[in-house]
Amino acid sequence: MKKLLRAIEFDNAVRDLLVLPEVQRLRAYRHHRTNRYEHTLRVARWSFRAARWLGLDERSAARGAVLHDLFYHDRSCRPEGYRGSALVRHPREAVENARRITRLTPKEEDIILSHMWPVSPRHLPHSAEAVLVNLVDDVVAVGDLAPRH
Ligand SMILES: [Fe+2]
Ligand SMILES: [Fe+2]
Repeated sequence: MKKLLRAIEFDNAVRDLLVLPEVQRLRAYRHHRTNRYEHTLRVARWSFRAARWLGLDERSAARGAVLHDLFYHDRSCRPEGYRGSALVRHPREAVENARRITRLTPKEEDIILSHMWPVSPRHLPHSAEAVLVNLVDDVVAVGDLAPRH
């Protein structure tokens, strides 16, 4: 029952974003051993869960997580004219893309911009939720890399 309730609350927090074609488009991009949409959804679910457990803002954590990798190229194969490392640049791209599809809160912006810190040192996490999503992203990425049976 608790699980079902949490699933409904998670759905209420992020459904409006998940149904958008700009978010669904992430299915077309490989991300580690999965696709970027599945990766994003996993980061969002775990961030929501951990934020609730820690008494943090679970809605912001989940929404920021849904949008944290909203960019449309493979990190290893960048569009022509693309300068610098996508590893460093993609949080800025994601926030710009996210602003086009929703009104971001300052905390959600912070979550997206700082999710690659310290690899991308430009933007430090300024909230506990940003630190949390940063960590969850790393843990989920390691899980995404594991071979599937
Ligand atoms: Fe990322
Ligand atoms: Fe990610």
